[in-house]
Amino acid sequence: MNIKDEILRLKEEKDAVILAHYYQRADVQEIADYVGDSFYLAQIARDVEAETIVFCGVRFMAESAKILAPNKRVLFPVYTEAPCCMEYMATPEGILQEKAKYEDVKVVTYVNSSSAVKAVSDVCCTSSSVERIVNNLQCKNILFVPDRNLGSYVAEQINDKNIIPWDGCCNIHDVVKPSDIEGALEEHGRDLLIAAHPECTKEVRDMADYVGSTSGILKFVRESSQKRFLIVTEAGIKYQMKIENPEKELIFLPMICKAMKKVFPETILESLAEGRGEVFVDEEVMAGAKRALDNMLDISR
Ligand code: 13P
Ligand code: SF4
Repeated sequence: MNIKDEILRLKEEKDAVILAHYYQRADVQEIADYVGDSFYLAQIARDVEAETIVFCGVRFMAESAKILAPNKRVLFPVYTEAPCCMEYMATPEGILQEKAKYEDVKVVTYVNSSSAVKAVSDVCCTSSSVERIVNNLQCKNILFVPDRNLGSYVAEQINDKNIIPWDGCCNIHDVVKPSDIEGALEEHGRDLLIAAHPECTKEVRDMADYVGSTSGILKFVRESSQKRFLIVTEAGIKYQMKIENPEKELIFLPMICKAMKKVFPETILESLAEGRGEVFVDEEVMAGAKRALDNMLDISR
């Protein structure tokens, strides 16, 4: 039996579904039941009927799935090896200390964060839901944790609240420089339409024709009548984008998130067969983090 057939057999036997982020390896996206951005995958994790979820992404995504669906078994085959760098860029103590400096303040936490940080937050957000969430809150000040770039992006869109960005960032998106974009335009032509993730710096975002989440970037390219694009986000998105746009010319920067490349079909198979990588979230953290994640899904409905 080949590996795909064996995974299929085990999925049925264990009543399992496979969820994968757009940044995962192509052979992992190919065998997943659901592929999407972090918001979509959180919704699916909560609503899907299967008993077991095999999550293919990074650690905070798998923990969010467990928090949103505490009665399901969540397997993340590389649980200890694949954190997002932003999971280490804020602490609950630091957030509470900063929050105490402001009156009429709410903590909005990007899902790319640890579960303990989510637990001291009022509401979580993803890059596809951040504007809706911030618009919906009734308060003067928003402590935005942990991505300073997404924080400054949302501050540009919202003018009735004071956004105080934390000082974290994604080590893959934040290091892209305007000169990298210039270099790509020089090499491939200035007619390229530029689509960038809001985790990029303001200087890079200002050069883009479109700024949005991974699903937003896919939609922009899919719906555009133009034929040539420069994509400024993690290069794993190429797999889905090529399927959706076989006739378009797509240029990618060499942006690779190592944490996103740790799952292979073989690791999924082992995880399903042996229960490797089961996700458990500390009980004390669970309640607060669930409130913040549930608030995100409820407000975005
Ligand atoms: P999305 O929410 O757009 O899927 O992004 C997640 C992420 O990790 C971006 O680096
Ligand atoms: Fe985290 Fe950046 Fe990787 Fe996204 S690309 S998972 S923000 S390290």
